[in-house]
Amino acid sequence: MTSYTTKKGKTYWPSAEMKKIAWVKDENIYKQADKDPIGFWKKLAKEGIDWKASWKKTYEEKLPYFKWFKGGKLNFCNNCLDRHLKKSGNKIALIWIPEPVKEKTIKLTYKELYDKVCRFANVLKKQGVKKGDVVSIYLPMIPEALISMLACTRIGAIHSVVFSAFSADALKSRIEDGKSKLLITADGYYRKGKKEDLLTKAKEGAKATTIKKIIVVNRIGKKVSGDKFLDFNSEMKKADGKCDCKIMNSENILFVLYTSGTTGKPKGIIHDTGGYAVQAYWTTKWNFNLRKGDIMWCTADVGWITGHTYAFYGPLLNGSTTLIYEGSPDFPDPGRWWKIINENKVNVFYTAPTAIRMFMGADGKYVKKYKLDSLKILGTVGEPIDEDAWNWYLNKIGGGRCPIIDTWWQTETGGTLINALPGIGPFIPTVAGKSFPGTRHIVVDEKGKEVVVGKTGSLVQVSPFAPGMLHGVYNDDKKYKETYWKRFKDKYDTSDGAYVDKQGNIRVTGRTDDVMKVAGHRLSTAELENAIASDERVGECAVVPIPDKIKGQVPIAFVVLKQGGGSEALGKELVKHVDKKIGPTARPAKIYFVDDLPKTRSGKIMRRILKDVLIGEEPKGLMTLVNPKVVGVIKGIINKR
Ligand code: PRX
Repeated sequence: MTSYTTKKGKTYWPSAEMKKIAWVKDENIYKQADKDPIGFWKKLAKEGIDWKASWKKTYEEKLPYFKWFKGGKLNFCNNCLDRHLKKSGNKIALIWIPEPVKEKTIKLTYKELYDKVCRFANVLKKQGVKKGDVVSIYLPMIPEALISMLACTRIGAIHSVVFSAFSADALKSRIEDGKSKLLITADGYYRKGKKEDLLTKAKEGAKATTIKKIIVVNRIGKKVSGDKFLDFNSEMKKADGKCDCKIMNSENILFVLYTSGTTGKPKGIIHDTGGYAVQAYWTTKWNFNLRKGDIMWCTADVGWITGHTYAFYGPLLNGSTTLIYEGSPDFPDPGRWWKIINENKVNVFYTAPTAIRMFMGADGKYVKKYKLDSLKILGTVGEPIDEDAWNWYLNKIGGGRCPIIDTWWQTETGGTLINALPGIGPFIPTVAGKSFPGTRHIVVDEKGKEVVVGKTGSLVQVSPFAPGMLHGVYNDDKKYKETYWKRFKDKYDTSDGAYVDKQGNIRVTGRTDDVMKVAGHRLSTAELENAIASDERVGECAVVPIPDKIKGQVPIAFVVLKQGGGSEALGKELVKHVDKKIGPTARPAKIYFVDDLPKTRSGKIMRRILKDVLIGEEPKGLMTLVNPKVVGVIKGIINKR
């Protein structure tokens, strides 16, 4: 069997076979790109993307703003679909696996997907959607999610996708921020063998907002009635199959995606058209060594940036096949994912460390049952991966022969930025690798000065900033400046900690702000605190993340009730309240009812002290507290359980 890696000590390198098939194999690419990053991206942009008019200026920077390919004209959907039709029209663009085992897999060729996207673009037009309008999409992992998103990009509308497991309240706040008039949703979806209702949440979320119409995909057979509602399929049938692409400026907004920051309110991250397209195309191609005939499966939900860039757009920009799966990884048993890889001969598999750790627990027979020899490349994303999970992934899933591409990036960066390339390596457990050619990340101290090799500091990106980077926060320029550009001025602040090893590889150690990564999902402690505190019985609340074997981190809540006390039943009610405010992904793993929280004289809650107590460490800095005795009381409560 072909092996794509060879092992030297603890480090893996590309094998001769991988060097043979890799798009990029010469490590000089880093140096060349470094010499002239703007020229490097200019060349890539021309080669990878179909432009209707060339740009006048490749890169312009007036910090904190910067623009790529200014004046360049293109259509994103044209790049994902139209340009492949002539040569690859009959090739499969999308493979969709529904959760129910008996339901048939759906395969759409580029031509078929193109037809559906054109039709739906006309449906959107009929509803009055125009260039620059925001369309809200609240859909599970079904083909209609991709069709809706591509249709928006075809007519120049901005899509704002909301994760289907988020609550009605979370949907509402995103609709309100984007002022969208149209919502695309489904009546429900299948999860762990059950029908999950989505429509009730969608209706509630859209109530008393700018939404005028709701287009509903019939997935679980619910009856939908009312003037406000349109049936996805009926509208598609009535619509014309031809729809010209709206030619857009490179700097026009392609989509907005909300993500959690350090405050209670999620930020609408803005991605523009040209720069995002270029980074999505090239990172997909080079990181995963994607060839036209390859099938790529990125398991991320479309509600997250990974779903946008690598489950949908990256593989299509490359004219490859993307596979998506509707349901739960362990339905009907923990072998489902491996069965899908086996049956569909998946070549590139991209998932999160949490999923890997979950399967490590189920181990053995489920993986062994299936042949996974079609796999060439494995990817991971979303949180630091520990050595055990890395090795398990490499050996059990990759059969010891596939490189693991540990990709570091963020919602804000649009595409991957730090990882080893398959034809260059090295692949080292827990180490992401080097900055993608043409980009540069360094590790700095609080003053913004680069630290020495091996020393942990703040990870920043330096100019010229990558083409796929965010171009602002929707409706909140102040937040854009404060979050990303205040601390280090001329450098983009990632809010991650990292260090560089002797070979120049970057190891990311995790967030340095109040953002948690729970099962790879991004959550802010403040957002969760706000959600809990919005229950009228709650006086105060503090949330801290603690390490978790499977999920990486889980949130623990300390709650002070207005009336004092607390009970198990009330704890359950508060969990339900979190479900309503954000969604089940944000549920605290434990709620402790306490009488007081450790605070400084100025009233600041010392979460760090709570964290120390939780993980069994001696808390430091008790002198700064106005109420140090409370720490002993909280210790007692934690230890009692
Ligand atoms: O802390 C880093 C972590 O995920 C954060 C970004 O989260 P989000 O915007 O939800 O995007 C996740 C998917 C791109 C980062 O600030 N992170 C992401 N990838 C890695 C990682 N931490 C360590 N290693 C990674 N490979």
